[in-house]
Amino acid sequence: MDRAERLSWLRETNEKRLEALWQIADRIRRESVGDAVHLRGLIEISNQCRRHCAYCGLRSTNTAARRYRMTREQILTIARQGVALGFKTIVLQSGEDSRNTPETIESLIRDIKAHADVAVTLSLGEYDYETYARWRKAGADRYLLRFETSDFGLFRSLHRSVGPGEHPRLTRLRWLKELGYEAGGGVMVGLPGQTYESLVDDLEWFAALDLDMIGIGPYIPNPDTPLGQFALSERLLHRDQVPATALMAYKMLALARIMVPLSNIPATTALEALGDGWMEGLQRGANVLMPKLTPPEMAGNYHIYPGWDGAAFEAEARMDNAVKVISALGRSIDETKGCSQVRVDWETRQKLKEHGNEPASD
Ligand code: 5AD
Repeated sequence: MDRAERLSWLRETNEKRLEALWQIADRIRRESVGDAVHLRGLIEISNQCRRHCAYCGLRSTNTAARRYRMTREQILTIARQGVALGFKTIVLQSGEDSRNTPETIESLIRDIKAHADVAVTLSLGEYDYETYARWRKAGADRYLLRFETSDFGLFRSLHRSVGPGEHPRLTRLRWLKELGYEAGGGVMVGLPGQTYESLVDDLEWFAALDLDMIGIGPYIPNPDTPLGQFALSERLLHRDQVPATALMAYKMLALARIMVPLSNIPATTALEALGDGWMEGLQRGANVLMPKLTPPEMAGNYHIYPGWDGAAFEAEARMDNAVKVISALGRSIDETKGCSQVRVDWETRQKLKEHGNEPASD
C-alpha cells in the first residue's frame, strides 16, 4: 500500500467499502501477531501535572481537576492486586508530577519487579536521557509516549512551551529505542488543525521509528481546556480538517496495523469512551487491551477527556469485561508478558549493522 492508497483510505467514508480495510487489518493482525490478546494492567498513579497541553484535562492550570497522588504503598498494593488478577504487565501512568523523581520511580520499578515476574511499562511523560536510562537499568521494559501529531507546527500550537527545533517526543522515542525499551508512540485523531496529509506522515513515522506499540484514539474535546472551549472557527480550521470521530480513529488504527504488522496495538480508552471501542478495536487491527487497576475514587478524577464511564467499576469487573469481550470474539488471552516482536526484528537489524552487513532487501 503506498502513500496515495493510505490517503484514500483515510478519506473513505463509505462504511461498506471500509469493511475491506477492517478485513485487511484483521488478517494482517492474525498472520503477524496471532489471535491472542495481551492484557496490560493500568495504574494511574497521579493526575498532578506541570504541563499545559491545550487538549488535556490534567493540564496544570485546570482548576476544575480534582488532584490526587497515590502513595508508594498504594501503588505497590494495586500492582500486587494486578498480579493476582493475572496481569503479566503493569503499566504506571501519570501526569508529569514533579514528585515522580528519578529516585522514586526507580525504587517503584525495582519493588514491582522484585515482587513478581511481570513486565513494567512506564507512561510518565517527557524526561531527560539520563532519567530514562536510569529507569531502564532499574528494570523498566517499555515506555509509552505518544507524539500526538508529527505536524510540528500543530504540535507547537498545542504545547506553547515547545520552542523551534526538534519535536521533543519524536526525539525521545528514538532515545527510548536506543536505550533498549520497547517504545510506544501514537497520536490523537481529529485535533483541530490536523490534516489528512499529516495523518499519512504519522503512519510513516510509526514505521520509521520501529514502534513496538502504537496507541491511537480520537481527540475528545474537554470543555475544561482551551482547545475544548475553542469553537471550531473557520480561521483555525484547515480545509483538509480531519474529523474527530471514532470512525476516523479506526481507520488510523487499521492502517497502523498494516504499516507495522508486528506491533502491539491497543484498543484505547478514548475509543471506549466513544462507543464499543474494545470490541471494534480488536476487530480492526488491535491486539491489546489495557483494563484499569486504578480504584474508582481515583479513576474518576483521572479525567483527561469526558465520556469514559468505566470509572465506577472495580479492577475485577474491568478485567471480567475484558475477558468477556475477548471470548465473545473467539480470541484467547496471551499468557506471556507479551513482548514486542518488532523489537526482535529490530535487534537483528541492529546486530547486522554493527557487523557492517548490508541491510537485507526483499
Ligand atoms: N482527547 C483524547 N485523547 C486525549 N489525550 C489527552 N487529551 C485528550 C483528549 N482531549 C491523550 C493524549 C495523551 C494521552 C495520555 O491521552 O494522546 O498522550
